Amino acid sequence: MVTFELAHESPATVTADVLAVFVRKGESGVVLGRDAERMAEVLGVDLEQELAGIRYRGDLGGVARIPTRGKATARLLMVVGLGQPNGQHGHAETLRRAAGACVRHATRDATVAIVVPGDLLDDLSSAERGQAITEGAGLGAYAFTTYRTKPSDTPKIAHICLLAGEGVVAGEVEQGIRLGQELVRATNLARDLVNTPPADKRPPALAERIAEIMREIGIEVTTHDEQALAEGGFGGILGVGQGSSAPPRLVELRYSPEGAAGHVVLVGKGITFDSGGLSLKSASGMGTMKSDMSGAAAIVAAMSALPALDIKVKVTGLVALAENMPSGTAIRPSDVLTHRGGKTVEVMNTDAEGRLVLADALAYGAEHGPDAMIDLATLTGAQIVALGPKISALMGTDDALVEALRAAAGAAGELVWPLPLHAEYADQLRSEVADLKNIGKAGQAGSIIAGLFLKEFTGDAPWAHLDIAGPAFTEEGDGYYTAKGGTGVMVRTLVQYLARRS
Ligand code: BES
Ligand code: MN
Ligand code: ZN
Repeated sequence: MVTFELAHESPATVTADVLAVFVRKGESGVVLGRDAERMAEVLGVDLEQELAGIRYRGDLGGVARIPTRGKATARLLMVVGLGQPNGQHGHAETLRRAAGACVRHATRDATVAIVVPGDLLDDLSSAERGQAITEGAGLGAYAFTTYRTKPSDTPKIAHICLLAGEGVVAGEVEQGIRLGQELVRATNLARDLVNTPPADKRPPALAERIAEIMREIGIEVTTHDEQALAEGGFGGILGVGQGSSAPPRLVELRYSPEGAAGHVVLVGKGITFDSGGLSLKSASGMGTMKSDMSGAAAIVAAMSALPALDIKVKVTGLVALAENMPSGTAIRPSDVLTHRGGKTVEVMNTDAEGRLVLADALAYGAEHGPDAMIDLATLTGAQIVALGPKISALMGTDDALVEALRAAAGAAGELVWPLPLHAEYADQLRSEVADLKNIGKAGQAGSIIAGLFLKEFTGDAPWAHLDIAGPAFTEEGDGYYTAKGGTGVMVRTLVQYLARRS
């Protein structure tokens, strides 16, 4: 894990392999801020001309490397572009992306110093600047190295220091670093869990790993094993898990700080591998299905940040873990499951398994009488059709909760968009033999239908649902701060939402 600190030296004398300063793209060439100008003086070069000479324009995430030739302690000055801030995304996100790109261009260097600019972008406090750069750099430096045996394949970057640039309040930057660092740690934890091979995170093992993480930071853990699940009537989780030789688990996490304002239940889909079950997926369809526990990973990671950030909200986490496998013991299409609370569901497609485990967890969550209940799930391929790989679908029964999550996502720099949960399509879920069936008509509003199914189990709880099927995992990486693999999506949004409530 990369460490962060605020450095008090000057840019010229700070001890680092690389010193980074931001610049903007202007109408005609690069716009240097005060910090880049100061470095130009230190180096004794006409930086604008130098950059024009190498056709560097300051595009967002574009970097130019200038040797310091002994004029500064760092061997290399890295000029990092902010592009032309245009309101497409907020200025914090611009800084995050640029800082991410900076670090991804410096992974072969052990220490990077980044000057926090006081100019170039307006409307941001020093704390927000420090936080955004910390997040972008810390997330950009992420690499999943657990299974690599050649050290040459692993990035060297170990230490990032931030320097307060001209007009920046150092104490505020330090605050931003502290908050940013915790969000980075949490998001990268979610990424690690998602990137872990499915054989190494089957439900009992993953439950144990989660319990270890939580016990260390004082969050209470109860793990409901298959026997407890049977006694509690959790027929959905048991049904989905019954085809696997590794039994399912429901992990219950309790964070209850003194003086808590309100109670939020977080529910996560934790399918440790989704083969589809007897309604088997194609080979390519299951290629990324180790990521089908990304909702669970997000709530575990978000909750892991609550004690350090001293969030004053009671939070119950419900992590529904099962492995969806085909076998002689697997559920069959047409089987009927009885969920927590008694509702029955005819399973018409065993690949629509996420809603079956969530149904139990949501019904159980509603029994806790929360002020808000939020579930996160890689629930439907239809989400990817509707909103693509980067925008999560948001729906729910409580407008204020949906709006609060939208605002939190905006502040965290994550993309969500609401889908309508109109009851109009609910009749697609009517079954001939049970209370409900688990799929609607193929090719019709699949994400909304799944949401309507979940709604049946939310009781009186004000509820919202985030379908993160696309955004949870990327096979491409974006060149900014998101590498290939698990993205840790919605961790920052959840923490932001809870921080705003506290
Ligand atoms: N885990 C999948 C959804 C998914 C697909 C997530 C692709 C990420 C990428 C989910 O369990 C699933 O298989 N859903 C089915 C539902 C259908 C059978 C109604 C789907 O979307 O095809
Ligand atoms: Mn499935
Ligand atoms: Zn699934």
